[in-house]
Amino acid sequence: MSYPYQIKSFEEYKAAYQKSIEDPAGFWEDIANHFTWKKKWASKEDVLRWNFKEPTVEWFKGAKMNITENCLDRHLAERGNQPAIIWEANDPEYPSRILTYKKLHEKVCQFAHVLKNNGVQKGDRVCIYMGMIPRLAIAVLACARIGAVHSVIFGGFSAQSIADRLEDAQATFIITCDGAYRGAKDIPLKSVIDDALIGNKTIKKVIVATRTRTAVSMIKGRDVWWEDEVQHIEDKGITYIEAEEMDAEDPLFILYTSGSTGKPKGVVHTCGGYMIYANYTFVNVFQYQPGQIHFCTADVGWITGHSYVVYGPLSAGATTLMFEGVPTFPDAGRFWDIVDKFKVNILYTAPTAIRSLMGFGLGPLQGKDLSSLKVLGTVGEPINEEAWHWYDENVGKKKCPIVDTWWQTETGACLISNMAGITPAKPSWATLPMPGVQMVLVDENGKEVEGEAGQTVSGNLCVKAPWPGILRTTWGDHERCRTNYFATYDNMYFTGDGALRDKDGNYRITGRVDDVLNVSGHRIGTAEVENAINMHAGVVESAVVGYPHEVKGQGIYAYVIYQGSHAQNTHGSGDLVRKDILQTVTRMIGAIAKPDKIQFVSGLPKTRSGKIMRRILRKIAEGETENLGDTSTLLDPAVVDEILNGRI
Ligand code: PRX
Repeated sequence: MSYPYQIKSFEEYKAAYQKSIEDPAGFWEDIANHFTWKKKWASKEDVLRWNFKEPTVEWFKGAKMNITENCLDRHLAERGNQPAIIWEANDPEYPSRILTYKKLHEKVCQFAHVLKNNGVQKGDRVCIYMGMIPRLAIAVLACARIGAVHSVIFGGFSAQSIADRLEDAQATFIITCDGAYRGAKDIPLKSVIDDALIGNKTIKKVIVATRTRTAVSMIKGRDVWWEDEVQHIEDKGITYIEAEEMDAEDPLFILYTSGSTGKPKGVVHTCGGYMIYANYTFVNVFQYQPGQIHFCTADVGWITGHSYVVYGPLSAGATTLMFEGVPTFPDAGRFWDIVDKFKVNILYTAPTAIRSLMGFGLGPLQGKDLSSLKVLGTVGEPINEEAWHWYDENVGKKKCPIVDTWWQTETGACLISNMAGITPAKPSWATLPMPGVQMVLVDENGKEVEGEAGQTVSGNLCVKAPWPGILRTTWGDHERCRTNYFATYDNMYFTGDGALRDKDGNYRITGRVDDVLNVSGHRIGTAEVENAINMHAGVVESAVVGYPHEVKGQGIYAYVIYQGSHAQNTHGSGDLVRKDILQTVTRMIGAIAKPDKIQFVSGLPKTRSGKIMRRILRKIAEGETENLGDTSTLLDPAVVDEILNGRI
């Protein structure tokens, strides 16, 4: 498979960008022509229809396709025996596995039959809660094969979080595992699902794959074993299923993500546009060459895993490496062992992982052959220059371009990134927008920030027109999609991020401008954490802000007013109450949302209208003791001194 749309020089990038802005439909139509369609779009008018007011975005509406034919069937003739997925287990002693395109195709088809036999129909929502094993990719693709809408939930989320998502999506099926291995831990996934299902009225079947052999309870009539179900299909000698005909605009998946208000929202991506955009960015950003091994370390529970472990690489006929474990198990040399063992060519990871590995020094890199590496990538949060240079010098040995890819769950795939070795890199700058992406900076009134020639300017990051991978709606609540992303500024998609732009048009992301935290590259809403803390008996009120954290990028700082029966405890070290609160957050959301610091306070700085002045709390959490800004409008300015004195 070759990629006629793979950009080969900076000049070609500029030309592609120009064309994509002048004639977006023509630009993407040319690319779409290289994919497999059951029926093509009727005319160029059908390539793109949009209106950001409602919002409506339709790419290739009326065209018929199935993403799995593009990810599997179309590669069989040329690369049926090439590895599609290489899998490395958590335990380095456990045998790794290779699934060729032929084998993966067969397994996806067989599991698609299992889904059908269990009553899953086109359009049904299927929740997937599994560890990073090949069957997770098989489950995702099998849903897509029959037109069911998958919603993968990261294995670190709690039963309560899952219950909320099942309810919101009105999901009718679950695919899970008995348990998952992550580093030294076994996570009892099925047991978490059982808790999530208490009181649930929509789930008809739970399909359980075995991985850890942890004891699980299997409820008659509801729970079935993956292996038994597949065996029935294999016994009949079935290895194929026709791919369901999907409209390009039918939903492919829902992925829940945090915002600044309320519960996480279900971001909806559709089949056609998402496929083309994930593929296009994979091929261009990483400059993938046929036969190379691509290792994206993200979990499929996040968008990065969807787009750059599964759909992007497989749609390009690439070999994708899936790793079950964590970078520091059994030691901090694990990534380097994997690169050495499989001769990985592209390594794509998060700045938080790089910073954490930096902390172990160069010892874990010694004796590891990293010479196969050609391209390095980062995603999920701004990368600081120190981490960038460490990655460049010690991992890439100064010969691998580093792509700093900026994007979001809502954008489906990269919007801003350099293209490896093709467009210039600039440490800690995500650099230039992808072709088709009309990035702008606006001031708080929505006015475009132009800046004078030669100047670096700053503003809120927005996009003026749709690219194929943009979200289409938030599940079950289109109005929420409009107000969240399309109502802040007229006729623009608002990312929620602030950014700088230099004289050459490069972007540097400065971070969220809303109440969303980015902890180890994971998005967490402050309101969500506050709601969880407030569930704890005795908590009167809380306020959560972020603060700079050396490894995680941002840490979570919680100010809590506590008057429970254990109140005296807060006057001592307060440790027990702190632990109780952490436990509550773990139950309500998951361990990833646990505050790093909890400070007990008797009041919060509020304006006379009752609004919490987060700006002040943020400054205190950041270690600022003076220059807290104007505190004269506060209802009770004395509270600020108390908070300052009790700072952790
Ligand atoms: O703030 C930006 C940050 O992560 C947010 C998106 O989070 P999520 O939807 O979970 O997706 C993460 C993986 C794509 C953005 O609003 N972010 C993501 N990539 C970068 C980044 N910040 C700076 N540089 C990046 N490369």
